[in-house]
Amino acid sequence: MVGGVTGDTERTSTGPGTGVAAATAGVTFQSNTAEDGEDAVAPAVEIRNVSLWYGANQALGNVTLDIPRNRVTALIGPSGCGKSTLLRCINRMNELIDGVRIEGDVFIDGENIYGPEVDPPDVRRIVGMVFQRPNPFPKSIYDNVAFGARINGYKGDMDGLVEESLRRAALWDEVKDDLRKSGLALSGGQQQRLCIARAIAVNPEIVLMDEPCSALDPIATQRIEDLMQDLASDYTIVVVTHNMQQAARVSHRTAFMLAGDDLVGRLVEFDDTNQIFLNPNDERTEQYITGRFG
Ligand SMILES: Nc1ncnc2c1ncn2[C@@H]1O[C@H](COP(=O)(O)OP(=O)(O)O)[C@@H](O)[C@H]1O
Ligand SMILES: [Mg+2]
Repeated sequence: MVGGVTGDTERTSTGPGTGVAAATAGVTFQSNTAEDGEDAVAPAVEIRNVSLWYGANQALGNVTLDIPRNRVTALIGPSGCGKSTLLRCINRMNELIDGVRIEGDVFIDGENIYGPEVDPPDVRRIVGMVFQRPNPFPKSIYDNVAFGARINGYKGDMDGLVEESLRRAALWDEVKDDLRKSGLALSGGQQQRLCIARAIAVNPEIVLMDEPCSALDPIATQRIEDLMQDLASDYTIVVVTHNMQQAARVSHRTAFMLAGDDLVGRLVEFDDTNQIFLNPNDERTEQYITGRFG
């Protein structure tokens, strides 16, 4: 029925070519069941009853979810449902915005990052972020990658760190003879991989990606998708995407969010990605992934 799908393909309410199956036809899902032993490992991030207000406007309502370690977790949902806001709760970036109020807790490796003794910049050191528009600094490729390590006072082999980070970001072979060239001279897809290299050079545990491919062409997108899957062996990745196929292809777990009439973003459903795409529990999830609303 659906080419290459592993896992639960039993589904009676939508036939081939009409519903969920059509939305993900040809997609090979990540192996993402409890057989991985995922459930035996403590989650990397535990989001607990998080609500958030921009001034008087509530943007998140009571979101609770566990983000598995060394996996790719996708956040999906219509524009304005709070995906970026939720992502920024994981590295305390919302607090850079005036008038934001946050309730609830986020634990990373069991430690509450909203605890009174925690300094937000320390959180951002272990939680890297990659944005929608590639944003290299107007510096050389080398200096872009070395940037965070220099700030942190890294005393090791900087050349080695730069090379290793660029290799991990699948960019080394393309730039190794041009490390002094400006990062801004690269193509969009290369710039995004440079930003990923910059993010991982400081050795974070978690990498947040907010629609990292939406400004890229299909080939550059494919490279970033491959990279996300490679990186998941060493990092916990949370990616916001509007591309259903991308969520189905790269993620192990998918969270579907939706804002109601009150504009408060809430978590509707969170499950293994193949479950969300092939057999969602909530009708609204099915409606969204089959493109019927949102
Ligand atoms: N800096 C901000 N100031 C005020 N409101 C914001 C800000 N950022 C987002 N919002 C509001 O919060 C809600 C969720 O936005 P966002 O998290 O960007 O959604 P998504 O990423 O799912 O599109 C929206 O109603 C948006 O207008
Ligand atoms: Mg967003």
